[in-house]
Amino acid sequence: MKINNRLKTIGDLVPLSSYPLDIGCDHALLSIYLVKEKGIQKVLASDNKSGPLKKAKENVNFYKVKDKIKLVEAEGLDSYEEGIDTITISGMGGLNINKILDDNKRYLKNINTLILSPNNYSIAVKRKLTKLGYHIDNEVLVKENNIIYEILVFKKGRKYYSYKKLFLGPVLMTKQDNLTKEHYQNLLETKRSLLKALPLSFSNKIRVTKKEIKYLEEVINI
Ligand SMILES: C[S@@+](CC[C@H](N)C(=O)[O-])C[C@H]1O[C@@H](n2cnc3c(N)ncnc32)[C@H](O)[C@@H]1O
Repeated sequence: MKINNRLKTIGDLVPLSSYPLDIGCDHALLSIYLVKEKGIQKVLASDNKSGPLKKAKENVNFYKVKDKIKLVEAEGLDSYEEGIDTITISGMGGLNINKILDDNKRYLKNINTLILSPNNYSIAVKRKLTKLGYHIDNEVLVKENNIIYEILVFKKGRKYYSYKKLFLGPVLMTKQDNLTKEHYQNLLETKRSLLKALPLSFSNKIRVTKKEIKYLEEVINI
């Protein structure tokens, strides 16, 4: 089937024996990939808008996987049902992801794996998940249409991270490949521009940004 590299990478990180819930499924292509190409038995795919779900239904029919994918219109984790042990959320802002998880924390009791790909505020997502009792198991970057996407895999179990590790990513900072270097370089440019734009009265933000620039310079080896 046709699927972009970003969604395929997310799909390849889903445990094969899991019962996944894809929140914000839109077209449902990730769910279709999971059942058609990865052999996952069943997937719950939800979205809080009817337009995307209509497209999802068309795609599910087109790929003849109606018996394996349940489509639900629901807000965030309201779509949870018994047996779900894995959650994927991608293509949303980090703060929206945090709100979805915070609003229904009780459902996380049975969730062993979360694969989250926020469009922004990834440090806020990492911080939230560590507070919710998860640790960072993997961090993967994918470049598509000149944008680098971060995919974060969380597993149940607490771990302590220093601010530096949380900011750089405990797994990512051990990687030496060109895409990781490019990601850090982009982040460094963003932080340098931010530092120039910050008014002097934002003394705390200036202090944190300077610290982040130092961490990035160290990891890129400037
Ligand atoms: C940009 S699309 C991303 C689709 C797909 N997950 C991907 O990564 O390509 C975001 C989708 O999330 C849905 N969405 C946004 N907030 C949501 C929420 N709180 N609960 C459920 N769905 C939500 C939107 O309706 C939209 O279809």
